[in-house]
Amino acid sequence: MPDGGQIDYDGLIPNNVGLSADLRVRKALETWHPGYIDWWKSMGPAVFQNDPVYLRTAVGVGSEGWAKFGFVRMPEYKWGILLAPAVGNRTIPFGAHKGEPAWQEVPGEYRAMLRRLLVIQGDTEPASVEQQRHLGATAPSLYDLRNLFQVNVEEGRHLWAMVYLLQKYFGRDGREEAQDLLKRRSGDADTPRMLGAFNERTPDWLSFFMFTFFTDRDGKMQLAALAQSGFDPLSRTCRFMLTEEAHHMFVGETGVTRTIQRTVDAMAAAGIDDPYQIEKVRALGVIDLPTIQKKANLHFALTLDLFGNEISTNAANAFNAGLKGRYQEDKLTDDHQLTSSVYPVLRLRDGALVQEDVPALSALNMRLRDDYLTDTAAGVARWNRVPERAGLAFRFTLPHVAFNRRIGEFSAVRTDTEGRLLTADQWAARQDEMLPSADDNLFIASLMQPARQPGQYASWIAPPRQGIDGKPGDFEYVRIAE
Ligand SMILES: [Fe+2]
Ligand SMILES: [Fe+2]
Repeated sequence: MPDGGQIDYDGLIPNNVGLSADLRVRKALETWHPGYIDWWKSMGPAVFQNDPVYLRTAVGVGSEGWAKFGFVRMPEYKWGILLAPAVGNRTIPFGAHKGEPAWQEVPGEYRAMLRRLLVIQGDTEPASVEQQRHLGATAPSLYDLRNLFQVNVEEGRHLWAMVYLLQKYFGRDGREEAQDLLKRRSGDADTPRMLGAFNERTPDWLSFFMFTFFTDRDGKMQLAALAQSGFDPLSRTCRFMLTEEAHHMFVGETGVTRTIQRTVDAMAAAGIDDPYQIEKVRALGVIDLPTIQKKANLHFALTLDLFGNEISTNAANAFNAGLKGRYQEDKLTDDHQLTSSVYPVLRLRDGALVQEDVPALSALNMRLRDDYLTDTAAGVARWNRVPERAGLAFRFTLPHVAFNRRIGEFSAVRTDTEGRLLTADQWAARQDEMLPSADDNLFIASLMQPARQPGQYASWIAPPRQGIDGKPGDFEYVRIAE
């Protein structure tokens, strides 16, 4: 029901959008559904598809008690269309149409722009499932395996969310875009996913935790900006997606923290207090802290590329149109139109990095990236409590925003992690101390041994402090058939 109460589970597609009375859209979704299931079975998790997993499924869209937990085989998961409750008399919060009633239908003049925003967001959702499809085989515990699958099914649901908007509010071209979302493949040479970071490999579990820490956090920022949209169905969709996204970042943050914790504990037990005694630390079956830092450097830079160019007319247009706002737009106290304000942006000028004031509208990508930086830095500060408590002289840091970039102005230069410019030779000489080397990756891969007994954890990661849904850490989160 449009006011967003309980979810209708009667039909094939659970929803709170009145699908049973909306024949046209229901038919479009039911036509799309078999292709989705095919995609899930061939590109979703490569193992354990038929084993019961202790998953949460949304049963409401209110802020409390919205999910229930139970054992589900993934292909039978109740993917559905869930929108956060409508806000009465909502108005467009920013841009040229600020103060006008929020749109319940697509504004004709912005149709193409809106469709593109939906497709780009939608494309990231199945992409991450594809990137993570082989991780189940090497899960460090049943607890982690379950968390991986929870993230996967929810990314699948996020795809449903965007497909619903395409099919409900766009006609034939919306249906075509929905089909294409099932056709592109992460990392494919001919039909890749749309954004670079979503074509990278996620070869090991530390990469997965870094991805969910850094890249799902970009997802949170993008969804938060779209949740401000003057197109009300998009706003409501993204608001509900954000409640799920929080868990993905929890998986990343606690995953990295548990990895650091295990390393620090093993070092203490072995009497090693120099984090740079890398071979000695590795001999303990844990990942040395400098290598964890290098993984963070890699994933941070890849994720910054997702924010796009420093100066962007697309971002300015989407804001002006009232389609995509700023992070926490509703809490900001300026004019929400930005026609006469400026914003400081770090730029490349004559081979040097300089801060420059530019029109605020064209700097919206950087503003969102700056908000992301603040959020990410707070997470890294939480990682650092682990070495700090142990009295170890090691702190994780975020590399400079110019480091190892492929999109935007800094893609033209090489810098170290402090943002100092390097020549090609200097870069070649120092690359392996800043980014994971082939040796580092081989070592990490060698640790990826599965742990499949309840309560068992791989050598390189500490157990969680708490289980999921009040269950203990040694709960049988996935019932693997013998
Ligand atoms: Fe998502
Ligand atoms: Fe996510």
